[in-house]
Amino acid sequence: MNTDSDFRNRHVLVIGGAGFIGSHIVDYLINHGAAVDVYDNLSTGNLANLEHVRDQFRLIKGDILETAKLTKAMSGIDLVCHLAANADVRGGIDNTYIDLQQNVVGTHSVLEAMKNQGVGEIVFSSSATVYGEPAIFPTPENTELIQTSVYGASKLAGEAYIQAYCEYFGMRSYIFRFVSWIGERYSHGVVYDFVKKLQQNPQELEILGDGKQRKSYLYVADGVEGIFHAVASSDSPKNVFNLGHLEDMTVVALADIVVDEMGLDKVAYHFAGGARGWLGDSPLVLLDTSKLNQSGWKPLVSLEEGIRRTVRYLLDHPEIMTR
Ligand SMILES: NC(=O)c1ccc[n+]([C@@H]2O[C@H](COP(=O)([O-])OP(=O)(O)OC[C@H]3O[C@@H](n4cnc5c(N)ncnc54)[C@H](O)[C@@H]3O)[C@@H](O)[C@H]2O)c1
Repeated sequence: MNTDSDFRNRHVLVIGGAGFIGSHIVDYLINHGAAVDVYDNLSTGNLANLEHVRDQFRLIKGDILETAKLTKAMSGIDLVCHLAANADVRGGIDNTYIDLQQNVVGTHSVLEAMKNQGVGEIVFSSSATVYGEPAIFPTPENTELIQTSVYGASKLAGEAYIQAYCEYFGMRSYIFRFVSWIGERYSHGVVYDFVKKLQQNPQELEILGDGKQRKSYLYVADGVEGIFHAVASSDSPKNVFNLGHLEDMTVVALADIVVDEMGLDKVAYHFAGGARGWLGDSPLVLLDTSKLNQSGWKPLVSLEEGIRRTVRYLLDHPEIMTR
């Protein structure tokens, strides 16, 4: 078992490294001595996320669907962190092709490039959406996977392709099923939506669904620690880990924290209605993270504190609200 979080002799390609989560992965790897390359098409990512480490990584601007370019970028790489995706979980119903193209074909292209260059290890950002609406809470990794969204279906297909490539080409994979991440450089999701709506109208807030949906969130620094804790703790060829918090909270409770942190008062909540925020949304997301917890990792930042830090970050960075 490799319990060494020292990346000094490692060359890592972070695909989607200019994004919210990817840029924190870049930080972690640089801080742990890795040589880091970032491959990103800058569609939703932004180089401002990497400005503080500008001289400490190599940027390759490219799309994951450009397999030849990606293959070239993989030369000399021994670990790939694949974060690039269409991360818009709601949009799949309007455009049923984008998740297939970006998340399935895109992941296949990443795997082909790895195979072409003999790269042996991949970290993959999957999602709790692969569980659809599970019957068991907290939801363990071996729960039946019945899909309710094309985003979830595309992440599950990505997982499946990765495992097949591990079988064929001797790669090792670390697949993480994330709950919603929050924290610095956050640029999309419920906290972002609430802050934006409240900036436009501080008296009223429209909440999707009935507000009783219960969700778990994970502070970004905790999540990144969790990823590399798992990578250091397991040498199995195919690894799947839930990555989330032990706590959950209703959307209304989250709204109350956002309102409070913004210094607002007497905000009238209006509910769009229904048990779900959108078709494919799960009314309860709480993952069983005991597999990762047993190896010694647990989140340190509470949901409330993580949400407050996220709101403060967004208020301190108005440019993100207009991107
Ligand atoms: N943020 C969350 O709460 C969450 C939850 C579950 C899963 N995930 C997954 O984690 C990953 C990172 O999410 P994020 O929140 O940091 O999103 P993000 O949009 O901030 O980051 C994605 C990055 O990938 C880049 N990218 C997108 N498509 C690309 C392409 N075709 N070629 C090259 N680069 C491309 C973007 O420019 C961006 O820098 C995604 O795969 C997402 O599906 C995120």
